[in-house]
Amino acid sequence: MSQTLSPASPATGPTSPAINAGVSPAGDPAADAAAGEQQRTRLHRVAVVGCGVVSDMHFRGYLAHPERVQVVAAVDPLAERRSHVQDTFGISETYASIDELLAGTDVDVVSVCTPTSLRLAAVQQLAGAGKDVMVEKPMADNLTEARAIVAAAASAGVRLAVDQNFRDHYCFGLARGAIKAGRIGRVITIDHRELTYREVSGWRAQASHHALSVMGVHWLDGFRYLLDGDADWLTATTTRSGAMQAAGETDASVHLRFGDVGVNYTQSFSSRVERCETIVIGERGTLSFDYGRMHVVDADGESVVDNPCAVDKPESAYRSLARLLDAVEQDREADNSGLDNLKTLSLLEACYRAGADGSVVHLTEGLL
Ligand SMILES: NC(=O)c1ccc[n+]([C@@H]2O[C@H](COP(=O)([O-])OP(=O)(O)OC[C@H]3O[C@@H](n4cnc5c(N)ncnc54)[C@H](O)[C@@H]3O)[C@@H](O)[C@H]2O)c1
Repeated sequence: MSQTLSPASPATGPTSPAINAGVSPAGDPAADAAAGEQQRTRLHRVAVVGCGVVSDMHFRGYLAHPERVQVVAAVDPLAERRSHVQDTFGISETYASIDELLAGTDVDVVSVCTPTSLRLAAVQQLAGAGKDVMVEKPMADNLTEARAIVAAAASAGVRLAVDQNFRDHYCFGLARGAIKAGRIGRVITIDHRELTYREVSGWRAQASHHALSVMGVHWLDGFRYLLDGDADWLTATTTRSGAMQAAGETDASVHLRFGDVGVNYTQSFSSRVERCETIVIGERGTLSFDYGRMHVVDADGESVVDNPCAVDKPESAYRSLARLLDAVEQDREADNSGLDNLKTLSLLEACYRAGADGSVVHLTEGLL
């Protein structure tokens, strides 16, 4: 049996400690959707800052939702990138800097798709001008800078979200919905692996943090989203394969504890075997999923759910923005807020600490 379902509603509010308390049915998705539609009467004026590779996903995703988002302007210091978004997406207002954007037009929300190192300055400037902001992942290169970004948004009284779009692009959202609906009973254990061969060049080859920083940040956030709770501790082994150019780790084995649930996670950028899959073993059933499909296996047999955001990655970027817009309209914290993301970045930093000295790194309410 194959069906297409929407992932768990983005408008689920802040993460709460609900590991294995979440076997009660989730809210009625149809009612949630209807309530959401009623509230979605506002058209939000949005600008995109940084018009490189990833910005295409944002433009395509936002432009597919003219009922809710008006893409007003784009910013990039490079004239060729400004021309690209004018020609490709019809964005007529383009600016070379955030200063020019703020002087030239009026926007409500800004998506920041610059290189990570420029995020803090961009958020400080935009938040200071009263704009709600979504930043690309990873929010920052380290936890100290991420905290400064969160503080800048908080002191300016604006909302901050992070584009952890794998909550929808990968089957995490569907799986979270299945767990909350009680499809597999109490979660016992999770096994996740991404094995690939990924050679690098340019600045990435020199970076001291590599495979976990590039892809692990998606998976670590995904485990948190799946389990709707905080990690207590983790330990990790990080390794650099001599087969690759990368200065940073190409491989990692991580074990995390979320309450009574153990998560085993293997990341490889040096594997000649390609695999990407997640298996969630519950007391009454097992979920197995990747980007495109989730299999639910229980005593009655197997069913398959398709993920529409696997092929439509731009829709996953829109859904990340929609979480922020929902939060703005409902005057609450987004479930992909900057504050929430400090827990994802805490896991990433904990992996590097554990990988450096072989220790077990403990977290307090999910934070370092
Ligand atoms: N969520 C995802 O699936 C996903 C995928 C790819 C990349 N990313 C993230 O997106 C971010 C950007 O990656 P990318 O591959 O698009 O990089 P990129 O280098 O292709 O694009 C960055 C753009 O920012 C512009 N820029 C530089 N300084 C600027 C400034 N001061 N103001 C405005 N624009 C400025 C550059 O000219 C460039 O066009 C990274 O953090 C990356 O991790 C996320």
